Amino acid sequence: MTHGRIVLALSGASGAPYARAAIEALTAAGRRVLLIASPVARQVWQEELGEAFNAWLESLPAEKRALIELQNHQDVGAGCASGTFRHDGMLIIPCSAKTLAGIAHGYASNLTERAADVCLKERRRLVLVFRETPISLIHIDNMRAVTLAGGIVLPASPGFYHGDTSYQGLVNFVAGKALDLLDVPHDLFTRWKDPAERGD
Ligand SMILES: Cc1cc2nc3c(=O)[nH]c(=O)nc-3n(C[C@H](O)[C@H](O)[C@H](O)COP(=O)(O)O)c2cc1C
Repeated sequence: MTHGRIVLALSGASGAPYARAAIEALTAAGRRVLLIASPVARQVWQEELGEAFNAWLESLPAEKRALIELQNHQDVGAGCASGTFRHDGMLIIPCSAKTLAGIAHGYASNLTERAADVCLKERRRLVLVFRETPISLIHIDNMRAVTLAGGIVLPASPGFYHGDTSYQGLVNFVAGKALDLLDVPHDLFTRWKDPAERGD
């Protein structure tokens, strides 16, 4: 059953363009978005996209803005902090090493970590678009722990085989892979076709 809403959290890793593409595509698909942004995520958004996160939100077309419910990052009493609150999955995009660590260890010190913890305990879809490089054994161990608990780690690592190697094309590829894992239809990239189908 679909509840029509997705929890989307931005943490303070590089990759605000991935989050922007994902939010735009989710609302284009008519999904409601419960949106969480950490303080450093807002700082990175300003650095990478040249505008304040809230200003961007308020500049969205009214029909898209109406689908987005902004959550307080510190409010561990929000709806998605409870297992009784139904939704279609959670996407953390981008996911920092610190947020990964908090989830891997069940730390739940803010709404992002708590909502992710709830996804794992309720066996709901949780996708972490992890962004750090190079990675240490600590990162690898934390990715392993989250994966064993049922989460999906999707490294922010675009492919180059889909025909659109523009900046936005590479961003869209990563956001589109994340939406695929949440079963949300999108046209962020052209899907691979067998050479015979393409007529090569
Ligand atoms: C401009 C900027 C870029 C950053 N990029 C990354 C990154 O790509 N990956 C990462 O793990 N941390 C990165 N950090 C560090 C995290 O923001 C920091 O560890 C922070 O405590 C994460 O908190 P949060 O996950 O609650 O947002 C960056 C910080 C800044 C200010």
